[in-house]
Amino acid sequence: MTTQPVALVTGASSGIGKAAALALVDRGFRVVGTSRIASRVTAPAGTTFFDLDVSRDDSVHALVGQVITRFGRIDVLVNNAGIGAAGAVEEMSVEQHQRVLDVNVLGVIRMSKAVLPVMRAQGGGRIINVSSLLGLVPQPFMAAYVASKHAVEGFSESLDHEVREHGVRVVLVEPAYTSTAFDSNAMVADHPQPVYAPRRVVFDEVLGEAMKDGDAPTVVAKTIVAAATDPKPRLRYTAGARAGRVSTLRRIAPARLFDGQIRKLNRMAG
Ligand SMILES: NC(=O)c1ccc[n+]([C@@H]2O[C@H](COP(=O)([O-])OP(=O)(O)OC[C@H]3O[C@@H](n4cnc5c(N)ncnc54)[C@H](OP(=O)(O)O)[C@@H]3O)[C@@H](O)[C@H]2O)c1
Repeated sequence: MTTQPVALVTGASSGIGKAAALALVDRGFRVVGTSRIASRVTAPAGTTFFDLDVSRDDSVHALVGQVITRFGRIDVLVNNAGIGAAGAVEEMSVEQHQRVLDVNVLGVIRMSKAVLPVMRAQGGGRIINVSSLLGLVPQPFMAAYVASKHAVEGFSESLDHEVREHGVRVVLVEPAYTSTAFDSNAMVADHPQPVYAPRRVVFDEVLGEAMKDGDAPTVVAKTIVAAATDPKPRLRYTAGARAGRVSTLRRIAPARLFDGQIRKLNRMAG
């Protein structure tokens, strides 16, 4: 049991989740991080790691039970665990699309459902869902991932209205491309087709450059801390200057102009 506020960060073994866990410790949180294989993680000071696979109901329930038994509360849940997927829609099986949605969308839903009774009983709490700029804009050759993050956006905004009167807020953090192992951990299409091969080479180049020039995970971690501690939370927090610019453009640019820009950025004609 602890009197410190407790933050639970899913997928804290690497990348954005790891940086967020460290930043939350610095802000005075007792942090519970998760990994599918927690025994492989060297837990930094101020953190405790437990196993979690967000695609399994039993794993989600076991985790929340462990956190409550050990610490007695969950003040902040950061739904960060996620996977990428690269390939044309025709090149990825339905099973691959299901897997992306199971981890990125149903994982967020499972975790939210498991912590909400705890947060309501406490009289408050905050759920921070790590979305993406790709929750706001399209990206060819990443349609499954884009669909998952658009779903997280709509889910979060709707849930926030349901639980606000119970003292719980649901907010979104929207990073731009961030330099992590996300790209190399991404699922590769299981049915590659020659017709898409030349375009996929270009896509790989574009994505590789974007990831190389991406924000540091600490940029997103800082935004997650702001979302966790803001006395008057906003629904959306873009992480870093680039994410802010794209989000604004998405809202104000005429649709035709925006469509043209997406094609230009992806080196597609017409
Ligand atoms: N990097 C970017 O450019 C970028 C941009 C926008 C948004 N995001 C989002 O940021 C989040 C973190 O990504 P990242 O860039 O930090 O990538 P990452 O380094 O690959 O981290 C992903 C994390 O998710 C965990 N994970 C994967 N599958 C899981 C599952 N089934 N159950 C539980 N945990 C699972 C991994 O933990 P274990 O392998 O230890 O289980 C890992 O810690 C994701 O939601 C991603 O969509 C990333």
